[in-house]
Amino acid sequence: MQKKKIILGISGGIAAYKTPELVRRLKSRGAEVQVVVTRSAIEFVTETTLQAVSGLPVRSNLWDTNAEAAMGHIELARWADLVLIAPATAEIMARLAAGSAPDLLTTLCLATEAPIAIAPAMNHVMWSNVAVQKNRDRLESRGMQILGPAHGDQACGENGLGRMLEPDDIVAAILVPKAVPEIAAKPLSGKTVMITAGPTREAIDSVRYISNRSSGKMGYALAAAARDAGAKVMLVSGPVAVPLPENVVRFDTESAADMYSVVHQHLESVDIFIGAAAVADFHVVDVAAGKIKKTAKELSLDLERTKDVLASVARLPDRPFTVGFAAETDNLREYALGKLERKNLHMIVANLVGKNLGFETDRNAVEVFWRGGEASFPIAAKDKLAEDLVALIGTQYLESISADTQIELPTIAIRD
Ligand code: PMT
Repeated sequence: MQKKKIILGISGGIAAYKTPELVRRLKSRGAEVQVVVTRSAIEFVTETTLQAVSGLPVRSNLWDTNAEAAMGHIELARWADLVLIAPATAEIMARLAAGSAPDLLTTLCLATEAPIAIAPAMNHVMWSNVAVQKNRDRLESRGMQILGPAHGDQACGENGLGRMLEPDDIVAAILVPKAVPEIAAKPLSGKTVMITAGPTREAIDSVRYISNRSSGKMGYALAAAARDAGAKVMLVSGPVAVPLPENVVRFDTESAADMYSVVHQHLESVDIFIGAAAVADFHVVDVAAGKIKKTAKELSLDLERTKDVLASVARLPDRPFTVGFAAETDNLREYALGKLERKNLHMIVANLVGKNLGFETDRNAVEVFWRGGEASFPIAAKDKLAEDLVALIGTQYLESISADTQIELPTIAIRD
């Protein structure tokens, strides 16, 4: 995006509060960003903030003689390599669809020859309104890129399709235009995610085993969230009683050794691997063939280390984006960062565990770490938490592939 000139048009929706971050993300990729706001946008975000992050005075008024003298609106329309409108309200979409130009932003859209991309944001019922959908179709048929919206919690307190894509997703959509329709519909469309979940059982004899308190709830919730984000999901599961989410493929395993071999058998097409299983760290060396008799007063078992499933995936030369979990009883941050480093992971999700903490319960709280960032998720239902985790993992994954491939800005996304 080096030196690409982007007009960021901001219209008046609550998602405007995310635009300073979007400006920062675009600028960190080397773009020059000229912010243009509508009158209602500045009800949600200040011109002072936008000027500070963009480094340029914010344009808002078609009739501002000083600004026009410095660079007239036609000149500005020619200057742009891309016009990006985020958030795009139902109102701005209607104006664009009608070709009307009552303000600076819509005038620029008529006057520019640069591609235009919009990131709609509105209440989910508004988004599904026939009038809005017709405008959407009309804009798309004229070659505008429609980025999103995303599904999730809305400022109005409801839940549905209508959230503006996160700034990282918008930047990724501009960088990887082929991914735009996929990102627009579901951020992980076309991707394969493998998740391990639940406990393992390490046999002592033919009827007894060593295991742990994992119920599988966290891993299964992640599987459902990844499926909802559009991914094909493989769930490699230890023995659990949690129902299998629809449209998720499950591979049943019992011991750590089983889990290791099933994971490696099906890893070929996996884009993202998430190790949420509580895999045993030790297994019994000599498993007795029948049931051990309780005649002796004491029983000693020789244990040896199991193979580490997660670390083995992260060691592969063409490894998927690899996310581990860290279950700790203390020093959460320190131990999690140690595992991130030692196991060579892209990300680690750390939770405190104990009786009724992390394990078995319906709720959980986590800290997530990756190189260059961290995020904290307070206690929430595991399915809600899983949605947020999948959104974060998806964003980091998309960032990593756009950084890895160093994709040049395509002509269809931004004018050369
Ligand atoms: O299943 P629930 O009841 O919902 O509980 C959820 C959970 C607490 C099990 C889950 O949130 C969690 O923390 N899972 C990881 C548990 C664990 O084994 O953590 P660990 O810190 O011991 O292991 C670190 C990572 O290495 C984990 O990703 C683990 O899957 C992986 N590992 C460990 C050992 C091994 N032999 N192979 C592995 O892949």
